[in-house]
Amino acid sequence: MVDKIIYLDNAATTRPSKDVVALYNDIELNHFGNSSSIHGLGVDSLKYLTAARETILNSFKVKNYKVYFTGSSTEANNLAIKGFCYKHANRGKHIITTNIEHPSVLECFRALENDGFKVTYLKVNAEGIVTAEDVKNAMTNETILVSVMAVNNEIGSINPIKEIKEVVLKFPKTVLHVDTTQAVGKINLDYNNCDMFVVSSHKIHGLKGSGALIAKSSISFDPVISGGGQEDGMRSGTVSVANACALAKAVKNLFPLKNIEELSENLRENLNKIDGIEMNSNANCTPYIINFSLTKKKASVVVEALSNKGIYVSSVSACNSKGESGSYVVKALGKSDELAHNTIRVSLDNETTLDELEKFTLALKDVLEAIK
Ligand SMILES: Cc1ncc(COP(=O)(O)O)c(C=O)c1O
Repeated sequence: MVDKIIYLDNAATTRPSKDVVALYNDIELNHFGNSSSIHGLGVDSLKYLTAARETILNSFKVKNYKVYFTGSSTEANNLAIKGFCYKHANRGKHIITTNIEHPSVLECFRALENDGFKVTYLKVNAEGIVTAEDVKNAMTNETILVSVMAVNNEIGSINPIKEIKEVVLKFPKTVLHVDTTQAVGKINLDYNNCDMFVVSSHKIHGLKGSGALIAKSSISFDPVISGGGQEDGMRSGTVSVANACALAKAVKNLFPLKNIEELSENLRENLNKIDGIEMNSNANCTPYIINFSLTKKKASVVVEALSNKGIYVSSVSACNSKGESGSYVVKALGKSDELAHNTIRVSLDNETTLDELEKFTLALKDVLEAIK
């Protein structure tokens, strides 16, 4: 049954690769020692863990960075943002982010705001982007952290990280954290411009419950999870070596990047021909995410009807799907509540085919016509 579906919700999660699952199984079954144990099995596990870190650092082409394995990007964002700010609050208490970050970033900023930090939430423009100029205008001598996502998870807009880094560099006590969850393997990015960045295994054909924070070795944090001191004291708890290796393999598999521009452009053109659709993703967004609003029909009804045909897309980001208030990201583009309530996100991966996208467009047309 699973083989016949058309899965176009890859920004929510991806199908794990067979080689990643095979590696996970091999490590769990054959190299199950605790990587902190000093006996032979522990040493064997530690060898795999060290190799996983190296593979990740080499794949991202970063020098003098450290990998902290976590349970998700959510946890990695928490460690980066809360961990850094609580550690360095004595340097300044001003922090900057954007109004369309993922909740795992926004909620950290809200928590810090409640704890006395002054937060600037930069507004994005109608294309869902903040400019380096916006960041520059918000910087003060008290600013210790700027956190800007590389690619937005709902609409796929891409922020100018290189230019933002150039601004941040002029403020020696400020570091730049980049939520790269939706960027990894999808856009060309020099990760050396991010002082800290994150990866989520299940977004890149790896496994759920696994992610990492990758940060410059010179950056220190307060731990978010305390205990036995694993991961340099930053993330206590026995490390899942199998997850670490699976993540490393999933990351390595992404490079060199593939090009799906033509496929995505074809879908965009076909969607633009359908009556009752308004695009939310601009032409410069990542080709992996196309988001549009329905002007005449309810998105939730359409998503359900497509699902009944074995075609899976999403209405609001899966992480917010219980929210009643529509998409805050689409509202931030200056669109109406009505449009924000009726968004559909189609998210592709490197395996998506033209045939699948054509079937999706046809099914969408049918569904729109069938719904009163
Ligand atoms: C941009 C972004 N950041 C963070 C996350 C959280 O990732 P995880 O599921 O690994 O916690 C997501 C998940 O949708 C995301 O899209």
